[in-house]
Amino acid sequence: MTQSVESQNWGIIGAGAVGSLLASMLVDAQLIPRFIDARRSAHRRNFVVEKSGRSQRYSIETQTNVEGISVLLVCLKAWQVSTILASLDLPKSLSIVLVHNGMGTYDQLKGLGLEQAIYLTSNTHAARWKSANSLQQTGHGQLWLGHPLTSTAPPWFSSLEFAIENCTWTDDISQKLWLKLAINAVINPLTAINDCDNGQLLSDQYQATINALCVELSKIAIGSGVDLDAKVLQQNVRDICHITALNSSSMREDFSNARRSEIDYINGYFDKAATEMSIDCPINRTLYLSVLERDKNYA
Ligand SMILES: NC(=O)c1ccc[n+]([C@@H]2O[C@H](COP(=O)([O-])OP(=O)(O)OC[C@H]3O[C@@H](n4cnc5c(N)ncnc54)[C@H](OP(=O)(O)O)[C@@H]3O)[C@@H](O)[C@H]2O)c1
Repeated sequence: MTQSVESQNWGIIGAGAVGSLLASMLVDAQLIPRFIDARRSAHRRNFVVEKSGRSQRYSIETQTNVEGISVLLVCLKAWQVSTILASLDLPKSLSIVLVHNGMGTYDQLKGLGLEQAIYLTSNTHAARWKSANSLQQTGHGQLWLGHPLTSTAPPWFSSLEFAIENCTWTDDISQKLWLKLAINAVINPLTAINDCDNGQLLSDQYQATINALCVELSKIAIGSGVDLDAKVLQQNVRDICHITALNSSSMREDFSNARRSEIDYINGYFDKAATEMSIDCPINRTLYLSVLERDKNYA
């Protein structure tokens, strides 16, 4: 590691399932992350992480602001990102790394006038809390990192690559994000509305809807300049439903835990793009509005 890489100070905002999992990986690599939480006074967050068959205890300092932080991993829900980041005093030199499902926060943050470098990720590392302080890694996935405007990885990337399992720089993060967004736009609302595990979407009763929805999403992506073939999307959806057959999607979990979902940043993102391009996408719209209606109870 070079001197400049070693001198980075890592901050994580959002000490939830993903934030705590990534924090544990940074600690394992001897990087010292700090959680940022302006809602509470400074303290240490203690928790146990079960991964690869063994449990390990972590104790991470939590501070109330981003003072001293040079790279900030944002592990919040998509709908929390712009409000929470806008409420913090962020130095111009800070690198911001968005680690959430869905799309739209980059434009929101730029719209708020943030001048910091904002990096995007497509993350499939998964975890869930077994109890308040006990986290279990439920998926060994991948973290793609990229920047919408530059193909050059920042100097701190080598540290992240070393610390996070399967962490890869891509000079086309947009393509990766759109594919993940489209897969989420199929699996999330359908499993949430039908209250089923991902694998149940493989049954015959859902195929006509899934195939037609994939055609709609592909049209929107292509209209937005992204190469996303409907058949490729259908196959990706099937593959993910097989691999994660017994998993419950995050939107279904939001439904069962009475939490606001990320629909605005998934099907809502597609709906907005479709409207702007006058592309008729009735299935996506119906799913979006149906989940949105339910979300009104959890604003
Ligand atoms: N979980 C997974 O396996 C998984 C996998 C892939 C992608 N994702 C995506 O990753 C993102 C994060 O998911 P998650 O499951 O980690 O969500 P989560 O467990 O709800 O984590 C969000 C965390 O943010 C904290 N938070 C809320 N307001 C805050 C504030 N003002 N300042 C500091 N922290 C604040 C919450 O704390 P409180 O609870 O105390 O409010 C919570 O711990 C989502 O977009 C999700 O879809 C998750």
